[in-house]
Amino acid sequence: MSIVEEARAKVNLALHVIGRRPDGYHELDMLVAFADAGDTVTLTPSDRDRFDIDGPMAGDIQADADNLVLRALRGFRKTTGRTEPLAIRLTKRLPVASGIGGGSADAAATLRGLCRLHDCRSDNPDITALARSLGADVPMCLTGLPAHVTGIGEQIAPTAGRLSFGLLLVNPRVSVSTPAVFKTLERRDNPPLPALPTINTLTDLTAFFIAETRNDLERPAKAIAPAIIDALADIASLPGVRLARMSGSGATCFGLFDDRPAAEAAAAIFAKQHPDWWIQPATSSF
Ligand code: C5P
Repeated sequence: MSIVEEARAKVNLALHVIGRRPDGYHELDMLVAFADAGDTVTLTPSDRDRFDIDGPMAGDIQADADNLVLRALRGFRKTTGRTEPLAIRLTKRLPVASGIGGGSADAAATLRGLCRLHDCRSDNPDITALARSLGADVPMCLTGLPAHVTGIGEQIAPTAGRLSFGLLLVNPRVSVSTPAVFKTLERRDNPPLPALPTINTLTDLTAFFIAETRNDLERPAKAIAPAIIDALADIASLPGVRLARMSGSGATCFGLFDDRPAAEAAAAIFAKQHPDWWIQPATSSF
């Protein structure tokens, strides 16, 4: 019997950097959604521990002790004392170090799978604390719900998620170091998000995002990976696009569309312009 958990791509619809803590971590004010595209973590009880990685992006990461899947497993065992051997398979589809939380989503999916396997709740405080220790984005990936996220990523207020839309995710196959992007930031005291207005339609949603929100990491990320400039310009000129923005610390950028078919039509056009890029249409909600 195997347990299969999806590690969905995390998309920062908005990311405001509003301060910096004494420990160097940044205070963030974010609106986060999840795409129905991502990695898969499969856990199977076994006679000995195994860890394998397959999938189109398998060549870009190591199946070593630093892998967030194994760090999550070690943490879970230490926290719960449950040490039964497991075969874990990670099917890696998301580009690595790309601003859509691939490693964090893998760690979160591993924790959710371990909790299902051992009949414990993934929202119990020990598991939440473990998630936090694995990375700032892991708690929101553990929840997996669209949310208003604050603090360094640990304060999570889920939003209604009633509005669904299409997303086109693109990555120029340039990996970007998150600490390097934060280090290149000019200002760390930018304005926070305004109070979320009542949002009933996709038009309301995108009008709010365009008028009131930003990704403060876009500018430093563009300086490090200029391909992001092209990505955003080319997404913005696709038919039907409502918003073009970078996610996280980049280099993945997204276009927001009415629905998945519109995102798929845009993907076909974008693929002709950038045949070597990673291009993924998806559905999401907020
Ligand atoms: O927590 P995680 O290891 O995923 O974060 C990667 C890096 O991103 C941190 O070492 C830090 O440089 C930066 N970061 C930050 N403020 C946050 C989240 C991440 O400065 N809120």
